[in-house]
Amino acid sequence: MSDRHMICPPKHVAIIMDGNGRWAKARGLPRSMGHRKGVEAVRETVRAAGDLGISYLTLYAFSSENWSRPEAEVNDLMGLLKAFIRRDLAELHRENVRIRIIGDRTNLRGDIMPLLLEAEETTRNNTGITLLIAFNYGARDEMVRAMRRLAAEVAAGTMSPDDITPARVSASLDTSGIPDPDLILRTSGEERLSNFLLWQAAYSELMFLPELWPDFTRETLIHAIERFQRRERRFGGVTAPSLAVGS
Ligand code: IPE
Ligand code: IPE
Ligand code: MG
Repeated sequence: MSDRHMICPPKHVAIIMDGNGRWAKARGLPRSMGHRKGVEAVRETVRAAGDLGISYLTLYAFSSENWSRPEAEVNDLMGLLKAFIRRDLAELHRENVRIRIIGDRTNLRGDIMPLLLEAEETTRNNTGITLLIAFNYGARDEMVRAMRRLAAEVAAGTMSPDDITPARVSASLDTSGIPDPDLILRTSGEERLSNFLLWQAAYSELMFLPELWPDFTRETLIHAIERFQRRERRFGGVTAPSLAVGS
């Protein structure tokens, strides 16, 4: 199969990149080595997703709950993310990648968020694949922030409670304007969402892969998409919309 623009690739693929620690442990290495190798998998995946014609790729980089990890590991992850942006931004920009950050942007010390926002700003007019980086992201936190904004509008009298519709809620989330993920992948065999895109996942196809994230390659992605393409999505109806007659 050609890896250049598959027929009807999913428009939006979201990935819970899990298993860096176990990858390292299996080799008798420190967890940090797993994270390092994980960044290489990120590089390969972003390029592969663009080549395959995917329009939006969301990567779960750091959750709002990951702050509970040992300080040294948190620092290590921050350092790697910063190094990734510093090293890869120019090339991503050249490749027409549009970066978008989702997650809570407030109350973060250090230079990580300014760097991420600069990447977002630099690439905002690019027209290639949109890479959403979920950083300091938790779906419940995202929903609470959205609810507060909507509640504030109602309290201010600029909106009525009846104006709160699913579309309005979607537009109030960090992913505003981005179509819901068609496919959510999680590596490392864990079968849970861990507070990722809970609202947006309403009709996503979920796929749990045994591979640990550092072992994820272009081929793993292609194989997952091929499996996705064999799934029948019904959205509550009785037949796949693409097969429905007269609708
Ligand atoms: C995923 O790998 C990376 C992040 C959560 C940032 P883990 O660090 O969770 O690896 P495991 O799950 O311990 O193997
Ligand atoms: C989810 O992985 C978060 C990221 C991939 C960034 P975790 O490893 O943090 O999830 P749990 O703790 O196993 O649920
Ligand atoms: Mg994990």
